[in-house]
Amino acid sequence: MRLQWLEGQLRRAQDKAVLLFLHHPPMPIGLPSLDEVRLAPDAADALHQCCLRYGNVRHIAAGHVHRPASGNWRGITFTTVRGTNHQSALRFVPGFDISQETP
Ligand SMILES: [Fe+2]
Repeated sequence: MRLQWLEGQLRRAQDKAVLLFLHHPPMPIGLPSLDEVRLAPDAADALHQCCLRYGNVRHIAAGHVHRPASGNWRGITFTTVRGTNHQSALRFVPGFDISQETP
């Protein structure tokens, strides 16, 4: 249902550059505990196909992970943002810790 809504929005904005803001990042960011809580892989694949169909998504911004990260997800640049309270610790091995770094 939400993907159908997005598809309609992207179709209507075909001549415009689109910035897409999501809660759960669709892409892994390389931190195991946070990658487990990203958008489900099947849903992420469907989202990516939808973005490719219209070709107007210029950037994806996501939250949820409380950790700044950026990169390129299958041709679309992305940013995840820090939390406004606690941060997820920068932990490259399984397991989750909170960090009290300032936002
Ligand atoms: Fe969340």
